[in-house]
Formats: sequence, C-alpha cells, structure tokens
Amino acid sequence: MVDPESRAGPPARPADDPLAGTAYRFLRRVAAGAMGEIVEAEHVGLRRKVIVKLVHRSYAALPGYVDRFRLEAQSLAMLAPRTPHVVAVLDCGETRDGRPFLVLEHLGGHTLEKEIRARRVLPLVEAAGIASQLLEALRFAHDAGIVHRDVKPENIFLAEAEGRERQVKLLDFGIAKVLPGAAGEDAPAPLAAPTEEGMTLGTPRYLSPEQARGATLDHRTDLYSAGAVLYAMLAGRDPFAHVAGIAAILRAQALDLPRPPSVVAAQEIPAALDRVVMKALAKRPEDRYASAAEFAAALDRALAPPAARWAETERMDIKAFQGAGPGRRAMRLQDKTEPLNVAVFRGALRPPPRAPARAVPILPPPVAPAASVEASPWQQTPPRTSVGHATQGAARRSRTMIVSLVALLVAASLLVVLLAVVWRR
Ligand SMILES: Nc1ncnc2c1ncn2[C@@H]1O[C@H](COP(=O)(O)OP(=O)(O)O)[C@@H](O)[C@H]1O
Ligand SMILES: [Mg+2]
Repeated sequence: MVDPESRAGPPARPADDPLAGTAYRFLRRVAAGAMGEIVEAEHVGLRRKVIVKLVHRSYAALPGYVDRFRLEAQSLAMLAPRTPHVVAVLDCGETRDGRPFLVLEHLGGHTLEKEIRARRVLPLVEAAGIASQLLEALRFAHDAGIVHRDVKPENIFLAEAEGRERQVKLLDFGIAKVLPGAAGEDAPAPLAAPTEEGMTLGTPRYLSPEQARGATLDHRTDLYSAGAVLYAMLAGRDPFAHVAGIAAILRAQALDLPRPPSVVAAQEIPAALDRVVMKALAKRPEDRYASAAEFAAALDRALAPPAARWAETERMDIKAFQGAGPGRRAMRLQDKTEPLNVAVFRGALRPPPRAPARAVPILPPPVAPAASVEASPWQQTPPRTSVGHATQGAARRSRTMIVSLVALLVAASLLVVLLAVVWRR
C-alpha cells in the first residue's frame, strides 16, 4: 500500500517529525525556548508556512502548564483581530505524544533584540515609532484585562513584508496574567491555579521593580518594561547594563535609579524624551504613566516638531515672572498635564514662529535641561502674553512724538512770556 502522505504531493515527513499526526509538517527549528521550541512548519494541505510553538514533553506533563498554554492561545486569539501589533494565532492542538502546540502566522523579519545588537542605537524617531506600536499592543491587552509581564526586545518582532512598512508585533503571552474582572465574552479565563505573585517571572533586565520584589502586579508593570525597551533602543543598552548577576540586577530594578538615557547614549537625547523614559521607569507604579495611551501621547509630545510644540504652548502655565528688562523677560513655566515639566524661559520676546506651509522637520533640535533653558521652542512665552517687536517700536515712536510736542509748547509759552516782559519795559 502507498503511504497517503507521499501520494499527496508534498515531500515525505522525516521519520522523527515531532508534528507527525497533525496537519503540519516540521521544516526547521527557529528557536529553543525555556519551555518548548519554536519551529517553522508547513500546513500539509494548504502548503502554507507557519510557526509552531511546541511545548517540551516534560512540561506537557506538569500540572497547570497546559492551562498556561491555553491562556497564551486565548489571549492571542482575542487580541490579534483587534490590533495589527500582536502576532496572530491560527490554530492550536496536541501532537500524537501529547505535546500541546500553538500555530502562529509566519513572520518575516527579526526581533528587536537582534536589531539593537546589530545597530547599537536607533535614531529617536525610529525608536519612538517602535515604542508607540508596542504601546498600542499593550493598550489593547490592558483594556482586555491582560498583563503581558514579559515585555522585552526578544519578544518584540519587527515584521517585514513586501510592499509594507515594517510593523511591530508583540509575541509571547506565555506568562501573561488575566486580571480579575477582565471584560468581554471572548476574554480568556484566568488560570485555574494562578502563578503566585511571590514567584518572579520574566527576564531580570526588563523586569519592573514590583516584579523584582515579587509584589502584586497590574498593567503598569508592562509600562515600566516598555520604558526599559525604549531606553535600550535609545541608548543601545538596558538601564542596568552595568550591573551583573541576577540577584544584583533584581536589587537594582527594585531600588536604584538608572542614569537618564541622555547620559549613557551615544546620540543626543532631548531632555523632554529623557523625562518620558524616566517617568516610565519610576519605581512606584503610581509615579509612572497611568496607561499605555498616556505614555504614547507623552512620547508623541516629546518628539513633536518645534512648530507643533509652539502651537501647544497653551498647555504651559506661567507660574511666575522672574524679572524683566528692555524687551526681555524671565518666567517660570509649568506643563499643565505634566506638572514635573518645569522650565525657565529667559530671552527676548518674539512673535510665535509661523508654522511652515509644508512638512516640518522630523527631528526637533535638542532641548536643553529645564533649569538652563534659553528660548527653546516650547518654552517661549505663550502667545497670550507676548508683545511683538512691531508693536513695541510703534509705541516708542508715539511716546517720542508726544514728548517733543510738549517741549515745543513749553518753549513757545516761555517765548510769549519773555516777549510780554520786554514789551512792558
Ligand atoms: N510568528 C513568528 N514568526 C517568526 N518568528 C517567531 C514567531 N514567533 C516566535 N518567533 C521566534 O521565536 C522566538 C521565541 O518565541 P516566543 O514566542 O518568545 O517563545 P518563548 O516562550 O520560548 O520565549 C522569538 O524570539 C522569535 O525569534
Ligand atoms: Mg519569548
């Protein structure tokens, strides 16, 4: 009898194909994970390449592990249709020898980890673009009550497809957590035996302080990790790259304040961007951005071109005038939405620059640290308080004319009095 698989057309399976008995055929191993392997495979019937995430035989027998795998599959199934920035899951099943597997869309490209390793630093706008797409994926996950808990460059894929711009895809919801009260009918059911908070999961270099301490987590743990990923893209190294050893890294994540990216990066980083990264890396979750959307908006603002930032000066409050001279002003400004953004404006008052008719420059000039700012674009006087050069000049001219007229009148009166005295004599 002829083997039905050899008659179907596709090449025969290797005798030790781990996917034998499924609709898929093993092609090659892509990566070996801690709990399984990632293989490139082909759907035998459709002849379509896919990625299969396959659990190790030993883990398949562990109580609770299959449930965790189910949670990963269901999280992806719910999120991928909502955002293009989460990898799509196509199928799930179990091999003949009882190993659970997930079938994922086959992505071309490579991970952000590989990209950073190859290029050292990414330019500001590119790094911010990747971070924004990552934050979009997190926004959808958090809205659905899912915390990823393992956001790091190895789990962020830069997907390339012909005729399309590179797209960020968040991978690996393998240790995700469903928060109590997650919304929606299609929300994955929480684990039957949830991971204890005291158990530290994830990679130490991108762990949040609360993860490092084994404390209770919410979605803000992912915002910290996203901040650390942004730091790594800007600086070419993670915030605690100078610390070695798991225990020392965990300690640093929990207690030490990293140096701002501008101090360690081999590229110039504006103070506004430094502030965004450092806020995301705050030790206390309540000092970070409250949501992925808020983080993304702050990132946008920090890199907005000068003209756009000028247009936004309405968001700065004048806290105090610190002195004035002829045509010069000094004042303290405070950001209305980010009260920590305090700046001092010192300089000549100028009318606001006109927004260019066409595209504005993509990269803003670096903004100097807040306390020593000399007329950086968004720290200029808000339009409501500015006085233009032209107006000042006209006022000065009319003042001079009035003074000259009065002097002329006084001189004429003196002359009349003098003539009257002479006449009397
Ligand atoms: N859909 C995919 N397309 C291409 N490569 C992928 C895909 N999913 C995962 N990979 C590769 O496999 C690696 C491990 O995948 P991941 O889901 O993170 O598994 P693990 O839980 O073992 O970390 C990724 O870093 C990436 O290089
Ligand atoms: Mg992974």
